[in-house]
Amino acid sequence: MLRIRDLHAGYGATPILFGVSLEVQEGEAVALLGKNGMGKSTLMKTAMGFIKPTRGAIEFEGSDLTRMTPHQIARCGVGFVPENRRIFPGLTVRENLELGLSAVSHRSAALRRERFDQVFGHFPRLGERVDQHAKTLSGGEQQMLAIARVMMAGARLILMDEPTQGLAPALIRHIRDMIRELTRLRITVLLVEQNARVALSVCDRGYIMEKGSIVFEGLSAELRDSPTTREKLGV
Ligand SMILES: Nc1ncnc2c1ncn2[C@@H]1O[C@H](COP(=O)(O)OP(=O)(O)O)[C@@H](O)[C@H]1O
Ligand SMILES: [Mg+2]
Repeated sequence: MLRIRDLHAGYGATPILFGVSLEVQEGEAVALLGKNGMGKSTLMKTAMGFIKPTRGAIEFEGSDLTRMTPHQIARCGVGFVPENRRIFPGLTVRENLELGLSAVSHRSAALRRERFDQVFGHFPRLGERVDQHAKTLSGGEQQMLAIARVMMAGARLILMDEPTQGLAPALIRHIRDMIRELTRLRITVLLVEQNARVALSVCDRGYIMEKGSIVFEGLSAELRDSPTTREKLGV
């Protein structure tokens, strides 16, 4: 579904990614692990078109994403839940969800209703708080809203950057259940996490990134038991 090949990218003259290759198949949940500052968020921002790669290929269902704008990439069915959630605090839950819908080219009243029903079906708590400002939601609910927003856009692949960051253990469990629910809905997930234990408990397999390169990959069980994981992640 997503195929990244020999990707090089950075900020201005500073290279950060050095030939990253990875693949995500439809229906999978894949973890991208690594210590702070290794280039995980840079990879996600490059895949979403916010950073132009200097070399390499990013294909989604056969389309070349490196030639597209972030908006076009979203319209292809790739959703992005960035670090620190980036919801609009001064807008209501409904307004935040409407913004997700704006990535869809043909928005009929029926589609709109269907997406709202779907999202409130999965996240009843958002339905109860539909007219509240997003800033009044708890951290876990804000994360839920960020995920619901990309579901409104009809994303078939979601790139999720550290969704459990700064959340209490009960909320982390909730996020984990949400990711499981996404895969049950056949939404494919590429998950960046500092919390390797959480990531490997929901993902089928994973990659470890170090200084802008993939240094290890394997099934979640292999990663969980490998001394390399402890060495590379310091866990
Ligand atoms: N906007 C930016 N401009 C310049 N350098 C950046 C920027 N964002 C991140 N970096 C640098 O890129 C490297 C990788 O960062 P990042 O991709 O955020 O890592 P990770 O998500 O793995 O913690 C770090 O050295 C970081 O300082
Ligand atoms: Mg990051």
